[in-house]
Amino acid sequence: MNKNILLGVTGGIAIYKVVDVVSRLKKLDYNIKIIMTDSACEFVSPMTFETIGKCDVKNKMFHKNSHKIVEHIDLANWADLFLVAPASANIMAKINHGIADDLLTSTALAYTKPIMFCVSMNTNMLNNPSTQKNIEELKEKNHLIIDSNSGMLACDTKGDGRLKEPWEIVEEVENYFCKKDLKGKKVLITAGATVERIDPVRYITNDSSGKMGYSIAKKAFMRGADVTIISGKTSVDSPYGIENIKVQSAIDMKEQIESCVDDYDCLIMAAAVSDFKVKNRKDLKIKKQDGIHSLELEENPDILKSLNKKENQIFIGFAAETNNLIKNAEKKLNKKNLDYIVLNDVSKKDIGFNSEYNKVSIISKNQILELDKDTKLNIADKILDLIK
Ligand code: C5P
Repeated sequence: MNKNILLGVTGGIAIYKVVDVVSRLKKLDYNIKIIMTDSACEFVSPMTFETIGKCDVKNKMFHKNSHKIVEHIDLANWADLFLVAPASANIMAKINHGIADDLLTSTALAYTKPIMFCVSMNTNMLNNPSTQKNIEELKEKNHLIIDSNSGMLACDTKGDGRLKEPWEIVEEVENYFCKKDLKGKKVLITAGATVERIDPVRYITNDSSGKMGYSIAKKAFMRGADVTIISGKTSVDSPYGIENIKVQSAIDMKEQIESCVDDYDCLIMAAAVSDFKVKNRKDLKIKKQDGIHSLELEENPDILKSLNKKENQIFIGFAAETNNLIKNAEKKLNKKNLDYIVLNDVSKKDIGFNSEYNKVSIISKNQILELDKDTKLNIADKILDLIK
């Protein structure tokens, strides 16, 4: 069933970003109701939110319409999540001290679950000891504080206090609702393609957008795992909130993995690691007149094969194949000492590389699980079910 989000909007210039938040939440099929403070209505008309959210926008505690229901209690009971954005210093101070002098604060007082505050204000107001104390106390009361970003502010200064970007706020909402069945698990995920330099301006690489690895990382993080990504070249944004160690070559990736893999319960190698590197790579750009007609390549070490898997660790590899799919994947499963190998047929254009979709089979020593074509995010969930 779709979740109910009650959005409390306060007066702050970052309110324009919250219109985008509502649009994004609507597209994700959340049910939305909005309360605006009087100051919020000075910045943006309630009609803007009503139209974007296709939802009720409330402002007054006392109005001429029916009072057969006690509105602030009804709204508090309706909400699965109470999101306050932008969360001004004033609203946090009032809610922290139990002041209930308008519809938003009265509803907050009647709401029994954690409220998610998306902090937004001038840097000095944020750093003021009163605001800091309110934030700390709200945290102690189990409320959720979505810290601001640092950057350019409306008052023409640079510093903390910039409201998180709309996509980041939506990620926080999605994370809030996701079941945390991987809590306590430490997962290391590789993504993207390694890059093997020829000279400072040229390289050889593999085809990989990084989407599959990043989808697994995003879902593992949402499900409560402690996630680290090691990634090569990708064409998509790094997932929100996750440590992402960037590397170039297969050797760099190998060294990074070796330095930390023992600390993880699970390694998922979704990276397209280059099988070969360039022998005698040049430190200066090769000139046309140098007349180079061929590249000499040498084999890269196989990262998975070189690792010493500990007894309770789970290692999952990927196999991108064009022919003899199952046979080739099974060979890799054994050769690389894997618990599972995720096989995808990369000869098909509508799935695999660069696509949002994939069709994979998950192969282990004693079974082959063929999954239907699905989004990479849904496939990520199926892969992560293996390590629960
Ligand atoms: O390239 P190949 O098909 O052998 O890749 C299968 C799996 O092995 C993938 O999970 C990939 O990340 C990993 N691999 C590796 N070291 C390499 C090449 C691939 O760990 N040098």
